Amino acid sequence: MQNPHNYASMEGFVRVAVLGASGFTGGELIRLLHGHPGLEVGYLGGAGSVGQTLAEAHPHLAQLPEAGEPIQAMEPTAIAASAELVFSALPNGSSAGLLPAIVEGGARAIDLAGDFRLPAEDYPIWYGFEHPAPSVLDLAVYGLPELFGKEIADAQLVANPGCYATATILGCAPILAAGLAEPGPIRVDGKTGMSGAGRVATETTSFASTEDAIRPYRFPAHQHTPEMERGIARATGHEVPVLFVPHLVPAVRGVVTTCYLSLASGTTTESLTDCLVDAYLDRPFVRVVAAGAMVDAKRTRGSNVLELQAVADPRTRTAVVIGAIDNLVKGAAGQAIQNANLMLGLPEATGLPLAGVWP
Ligand SMILES: NC(=O)c1ccc[n+]([C@@H]2O[C@H](COP(=O)([O-])OP(=O)(O)OC[C@H]3O[C@@H](n4cnc5c(N)ncnc54)[C@H](OP(=O)(O)O)[C@@H]3O)[C@@H](O)[C@H]2O)c1
Repeated sequence: MQNPHNYASMEGFVRVAVLGASGFTGGELIRLLHGHPGLEVGYLGGAGSVGQTLAEAHPHLAQLPEAGEPIQAMEPTAIAASAELVFSALPNGSSAGLLPAIVEGGARAIDLAGDFRLPAEDYPIWYGFEHPAPSVLDLAVYGLPELFGKEIADAQLVANPGCYATATILGCAPILAAGLAEPGPIRVDGKTGMSGAGRVATETTSFASTEDAIRPYRFPAHQHTPEMERGIARATGHEVPVLFVPHLVPAVRGVVTTCYLSLASGTTTESLTDCLVDAYLDRPFVRVVAAGAMVDAKRTRGSNVLELQAVADPRTRTAVVIGAIDNLVKGAAGQAIQNANLMLGLPEATGLPLAGVWP
């Protein structure tokens, strides 16, 4: 049955669905899609927010043409009939049961959760659930455009990477691949602003408990750990263990990952910096910060930019590789649209912000 809430498709536009439209990353997807010349929103999906209009769920989006459109229940057949491409911004564990039917219905999909990033046997360990569709995991392509763009272009289903994993893999992979660090354990210290926890505050993420607080959490069991190991192995051929300790900091947006690798003999700060510059030459969203300056997540706010920096410390024989992104943009919605561009044969930067918001 034709969905009663289809919007008129403008000629040449690809119609997309946003599931989890009321959430932080759902809202950010809709905000960024508004500026995209080839994509238009044709379906808003949700759970508890069904029946609310987009403007009710997101008052900051109230001027958009689709502001009066209602958020609808997520019925796979209706979604596949309404959209050629589906962005799923649902909580971990919610899209694994929904996206296989949507893909089977003929739509292509990008999942912003972790439901298609790992092999089936890892889900009980790292996500606490048995994967309901293990055969579909083989279809999924890991959506890190700077490293796996060719596979993404043909994918039916893309697993959009986690925010911490994006900054870590893109920083460490070229350095390991070039032999500038030893292929041994990597220690990753992560910091995230509070929007990483989603729009509904809990006892531990409320303003009262996070204002002026800096707090490690969920280590050594954070679910991005195996994703980092898998992504680095795919990109470099080196299976290295990662120890990852994330922290909450009292900011709204921003992720910083500080990675410690064992320095290879002869590696200097200059050779590390040159390696990153060469790896991402002509890639629109990677900005390598020269030695002496410092990365800053605040500079990336609102943009799809990743700032990278690498420094050699010969005294401790350590290569320090630091990445900074806006968790909601390069860490989620922006990277998902970058993947969509590759899937549709568009230039990867189409419709995406290159400039951050400052101050
Ligand atoms: N926040 C980030 O920085 C970030 C970065 C990278 C990846 N991600 C991933 O992106 C996904 C969304 O994150 P978010 O921060 O946008 O979360 P969020 O703000 O909590 O939004 C989650 C959305 O999912 C819907 N939802 C909640 N429970 C549901 C359920 N049981 N079944 C179906 N839908 C449900 C909610 O819709 P209703 O209001 O209609 O119930 C809401 O729109 C998560 O998987 C997260 O891990 C987030």
